[in-house]
Amino acid sequence: MAPTTIPDIYETYEEGVPLTMLTAYDAPIAWQVEAAGVDMILVGDSAGDNHLGYDSTLPVTLEEALSNPAAVVRGTEEAFVVADMPFLSYGTSLSESVENAGRFLKEAGADAVKLETAPYGETTVEVVDRCTELGIPVQGHVGLTPQREKEIGGAYVQGRDTDTSTTGDALVETAERLEDAGAFSVVLETVSEGVAKRVTDALEVPTIGIGAGRYVDGQVLVVSDVLGLGGESYSLSKQYADLDAEVRAAVSEYIEEVRSGAFPTAENAFDPIDEA
Ligand code: KIV
Repeated sequence: MAPTTIPDIYETYEEGVPLTMLTAYDAPIAWQVEAAGVDMILVGDSAGDNHLGYDSTLPVTLEEALSNPAAVVRGTEEAFVVADMPFLSYGTSLSESVENAGRFLKEAGADAVKLETAPYGETTVEVVDRCTELGIPVQGHVGLTPQREKEIGGAYVQGRDTDTSTTGDALVETAERLEDAGAFSVVLETVSEGVAKRVTDALEVPTIGIGAGRYVDGQVLVVSDVLGLGGESYSLSKQYADLDAEVRAAVSEYIEEVRSGAFPTAENAFDPIDEA
């Protein structure tokens, strides 16, 4: 099968079909997500708290962030894989940012990188501009940017114009700057629905929302939340399965069968001893 490309994503967008994006951090889940037909896989730095056992995305290292998309790419055939650049792997200097971005394509085999962008985000916009000029596709990310959680003070809804929430105008302008710099799409995280609509109306590239309501061009969710795997549920998300319960039941049954002698049987043995 042919790999999914940015023109394929634009075709879906131009047909008015909402784009679907879901995170994956390893090969087996990526394989299932691709088989179900998602448009894009995001190897988010949400791997920090959903896959690597950290409390947040901040500790995720560049090496960890490279190894997850590499596994996802190995586990898929045609998926469009976007890799998050982790905290401080970009923005420190232009050359380091671009070199690190390039590693996601050259070493991990990703199709694009995603960069969180602060309101107006001049430094990040410059990185996006240079990356896209050199052929590294970039997805922007505005609104709640968890890599700035210490600066923001928590996971506050953005676009409300309060002490903990930037203005709608700032979000619209930041997204426009990212589009001008060449971003092929922009993620809007935890943003007032009206502001998300304003951004979507202002851009020609697709917007992908998470906690951004209904008036965006596509949706992205964290796969662990969707599958009910190891996490709390959030109102911005929707849980479609309860894998925690399934996994625990299967493991309990295995323990019980080993302890009772019900597993293994002769069928699970090589050259079994004939007890008859
Ligand atoms: O890291 C991530 O999973 C993300 C999504 C929440 C958009 O950035």
